[in-house]
Amino acid sequence: MPRPQIRLRDPSRFKDPANLSWEHYVALQARERERYLADRAAIPADALAYRTVSPQYLERAVDQFANNYYSELSATHYIATAAAHAPFDELKKCCLFQLADEQRHLEMDREVFERAGIPERDWLPAWEAPGTTCRFFRHVLELEDTLEILVKANFVAEGAAGPGTFAVLADGAEARGDVFSAVNHRARVRDETRHISFARALVKVLIEDDAANLDVIQRWQDESLQLFVEVARGGQRREWWEGFLGSYYKIALPLGLKPTSLPV
Ligand SMILES: [Fe+2]
Ligand SMILES: [Fe+2]
Repeated sequence: MPRPQIRLRDPSRFKDPANLSWEHYVALQARERERYLADRAAIPADALAYRTVSPQYLERAVDQFANNYYSELSATHYIATAAAHAPFDELKKCCLFQLADEQRHLEMDREVFERAGIPERDWLPAWEAPGTTCRFFRHVLELEDTLEILVKANFVAEGAAGPGTFAVLADGAEARGDVFSAVNHRARVRDETRHISFARALVKVLIEDDAANLDVIQRWQDESLQLFVEVARGGQRREWWEGFLGSYYKIALPLGLKPTSLPV
């Protein structure tokens, strides 16, 4: 494994902001699952079978479904790598809880594809097409360093795709009759908020621990956002993109990071 580019000299600085024990976490997961199943059970059968959306909606939504599903699939892999290589136990614990969350998100998004009747052979080509999140996640999947994975995927990507953009996605889907996707987005965001907050706590202590870490984190931010630019191209996702950058800068700039100059 390559040598880590930054480290936390004093790991006792990092505390899980949710302060979750294994017992608390399992109870929370169970409550979340129950709530999700109740929300899903309340969706009318017609909507759940994708008979309330137009054929044009489904055609256009396939790349959005792929962005959702493969981001979650990627997350289960990279967060497992982050857990395996975690430099200290408190951080490993946060990664392991997240692994269970991402697994649940992945299952929700798989069910969207299935209920919408999209044949599995079309899923991956939709994600590999230009204009998706594929390039970013493929990059993260190549990483081995826990801190780099958490800064790029949790702090930058989830921080950006935080509450704001999931609300845009949920409202947009619901307005077009896709109630199931809306329920999924609203469920996922409750966990993502926790993933973002431990990454934010990590970035904060990394910078406090050694000011030189800020330059490396800035570079990781720049690399990450550049890999997302193609998702915004074409103008269709303008509102999404503004929300994406807006959510991220709201957490990053107060920590001393600077906006990335981007060609959009
Ligand atoms: Fe997720
Ligand atoms: Fe997440």
